[in-house]
Amino acid sequence: MTRYLVTSALPYANGPIHFGHIAGAYLPADLYVRWLKMTGEEVLYVCGTDEYGVAITLQADQEGEEYRDYVDRWHQEIKSTFDQFRIEFDAWSGTARCPHHVSASQKFFTTLLKKGFVQEKTTSQWYSEDLERFLPDRYLEGTCPECAHPEARGDECPKCGMWIDASQLVNPVCTIDSSKPVLRESLHWYLDLPALKENGLAAWYEGEDAERPHRPWKPNVAGHVEAMLKDIKERPITRDLPWGVPVPKDIESAEGKVLYVWFDAPVGYISATMEWAESKGEPDAWKTWWQSPDSRLVHFIGKDNIAFHAVVFPSMLLGQGNAWDGEPFVLPWAVPANEFYNLQGKKFSTSSGWHLDSKAFFDSYSADAARFHLVMTLPETADSEFSWEGFQSTNNSLLADKLGNFASRVLKFASKTFNNKVPHSSGVLDTHPLLATADEAFEEIGIRIREFEFRAAGQALMRGCDALNTFFDEQAPWKLAKGDTEDLVLCGEVVERCIAYLELLSRRMSPFCPDAAEALRKMLGEAIGNSDSKWGPESKAQSPAQVIPGATLGEPGILFAKIEDGALQEEISRLEGAVPCE
Ligand code: 2FM
Ligand code: ZN
Repeated sequence: MTRYLVTSALPYANGPIHFGHIAGAYLPADLYVRWLKMTGEEVLYVCGTDEYGVAITLQADQEGEEYRDYVDRWHQEIKSTFDQFRIEFDAWSGTARCPHHVSASQKFFTTLLKKGFVQEKTTSQWYSEDLERFLPDRYLEGTCPECAHPEARGDECPKCGMWIDASQLVNPVCTIDSSKPVLRESLHWYLDLPALKENGLAAWYEGEDAERPHRPWKPNVAGHVEAMLKDIKERPITRDLPWGVPVPKDIESAEGKVLYVWFDAPVGYISATMEWAESKGEPDAWKTWWQSPDSRLVHFIGKDNIAFHAVVFPSMLLGQGNAWDGEPFVLPWAVPANEFYNLQGKKFSTSSGWHLDSKAFFDSYSADAARFHLVMTLPETADSEFSWEGFQSTNNSLLADKLGNFASRVLKFASKTFNNKVPHSSGVLDTHPLLATADEAFEEIGIRIREFEFRAAGQALMRGCDALNTFFDEQAPWKLAKGDTEDLVLCGEVVERCIAYLELLSRRMSPFCPDAAEALRKMLGEAIGNSDSKWGPESKAQSPAQVIPGATLGEPGILFAKIEDGALQEEISRLEGAVPCE
């Protein structure tokens, strides 16, 4: 049986998660997972914080905090932001707190070493004489050795997407203190990506590995990977640092060396799964997810993480061979990488105030409104942005006017005209063309979600609501209610269909707007029967949509409050007071 192993990039435990991150790698994953679960699929959603690396040591040092305390603080903080967005993981851990992480990462390393895919070399690394330490790649800026872009980072070029060997960076400057670093010799271990490319990576990427199929690559993923594969190089996977997964002690010269954060971080997906399995009392259950050919591994990431998830981590997984109880690892089945999400035309930046403070935001607006607006503007094929005007329009014109309004007019009318009970139906309207249009739109939601086209899925949800509103308008039950007996019977048929479609709508909307979906189901009261089976699976949804005739409805209410122009102006003025990063 197919199972879906879904991951979202492990956020660094060194700063807040902002709307840009949420739109890039977390909300689409959460939506995908909610949908798959609702439709009866077996799914495990894994995430956690990325807690090692020199960036964290530098920031903790600057703030005078112990590394562990520092990452603990951000680990909690980040989790509370995910909670605000109703992003729900099955396995949530962190690379410095997971009890399996060190041993799993070390085993990855030693296996690659034993198989000859990791080699020792003495090379030059950038060293800051002022800071008295080797510099993290991401704190170096210089000219890209591949495309001459002048603002390449030490680990990656934002223009050509190359994973750069930092020592090759031209005219580097340390971005912490603008000093010029010097090259110093140090012994390190290198991942032999060219050998791994020949030993299965290229064949897998091209779709020639029958055991490990994948979906067609998104164009942005294919572009990055193909450029990287063309000129693939060995990469250092260790660092001189006091904070990280130590290079195993039994290896000569390991003293003072740790694994590069980008080596241990993706192993974090596996170690978090091990921890999850252990907490369930089935310590070996992680293998079902990571080693069974039935598993579909899906990595949700932002575009800056493509090289690591579509080339480096697959190479590391391939290179393990059968070292883990004789079974190979699965390789990614899909990498639905998103482009970047900005704020009113500029990059999000917490330090400059060009951001949306989650706490303030959620004091005024709902998670559902935030989620739905982000879905409708996701950077799926190109960079996109959050604007306050757009947010207001999504909330008011789509959620409130289309979805919320349909629910409230139907339920209020049923309360007034049918004593808050579901009228009986003969099925005469079951095949009405507008209801068929709603069925098609709702059907499309699942198709689009499974294709990772979340914006289109959101549009389909709205099309379904449009059809239902039109049905209500055309049937005009408020006029029928004033007519003769025959009209009154038809009025009941209309209202019964609308209530049945509200039940269906509550399920179709739940991955997008889980709180409002829950609220809608409460408003449907006894009409939807036993609430234990409320979320599906979809395969059990009846066609045509059904509710219990004669059942008492709950209390009608407002699903989505409108955002007033005055509130919007305040938000815009606050943002205008900040200075965005260019
Ligand atoms: O870019 C980042 O935020 C990284 N911390 C993502 C790591 S993803 C995975 F490999 F762990
Ligand atoms: Zn470049």
